[in-house]
Amino acid sequence: MAKITYIAFDGTVYDIEAREGTTVMENAVRNSVPGIEAECGGACACATCHVYVDPDWVEATGEPQPMEEDMLDFAQDVQPNSRLSCQIRVTAALDGLIVRVPESQG
Ligand code: FES
Repeated sequence: MAKITYIAFDGTVYDIEAREGTTVMENAVRNSVPGIEAECGGACACATCHVYVDPDWVEATGEPQPMEEDMLDFAQDVQPNSRLSCQIRVTAALDGLIVRVPESQG
């Protein structure tokens, strides 16, 4: 298990124990974190699972793949630490990960 902290647009903190092999998006949806709609169900085709990865965790989560980069063009208020949470797979190395939901998804 890995603990993931989601910070909603209004500052509400959701600490979630995530199973390895699941995605950051799946855990948000399962725990009703507001602002993570995940309309495409994780197919990297909607950009409604957009999050900002905490700067301390950007390296551990890695670079987005080209398909994710393309889809991020459809997200609002994209920043250098923007990711689609359905494309971040939970591993033990991500224990303690912090992500924020963009205000535009509030
Ligand atoms: Fe659709 Fe992530 S859930 S792109």
